[in-house]
Amino acid sequence: MYSMETSFGQAQAPSAEKRWKIVEATARRHGREAHALIETLHTVQECFGYLDETALRYVAHVLSTPLSRVYGAATFYHFFTLKPKGKHTCVVCTGTACYVKGADALLAAVGREAQVGPGETTADGRMSLVTARCLGACGIAPAVVLDGTVVGHQSPKSLLRELKGWLDRGAVGPA
Ligand code: FES
Repeated sequence: MYSMETSFGQAQAPSAEKRWKIVEATARRHGREAHALIETLHTVQECFGYLDETALRYVAHVLSTPLSRVYGAATFYHFFTLKPKGKHTCVVCTGTACYVKGADALLAAVGREAQVGPGETTADGRMSLVTARCLGACGIAPAVVLDGTVVGHQSPKSLLRELKGWLDRGAVGPA
């Protein structure tokens, strides 16, 4: 639940995570301009990989904009992705810090083992694979978010170990 009494920028973030600070900073920067909503939704997508209801509600509060308008923009523009359909969600950060530390290898390993590409969901619906541009966790690059939990310093082997229980019959194992 978010605080309603807020003037611009004072809405309470869904969690203390640094990513929400980045979203709020974007909203503050563009808050009085016509494109503020689009810019803020872009930042959510870059930080989280997709837009879910929690994020859309937060954006509506931060910008003091009706939720219907936020949903309208999120569903109208093809470059926005709503929360993927998989039972579990794996977000691999492909921002600069994570890229340098091997994000590509993480994506390749997951793609190979789970037969899924970025933006796709496994055929059995167990996991969606998503990319984000920076999770605000560059200090622990390469970083991944597994069902909302940020985990850092990942290697293909450690990530596949994390995902093992998610995928069909535990077919994924350490490389
Ligand atoms: S670039 Fe990946 S967390 Fe910042």
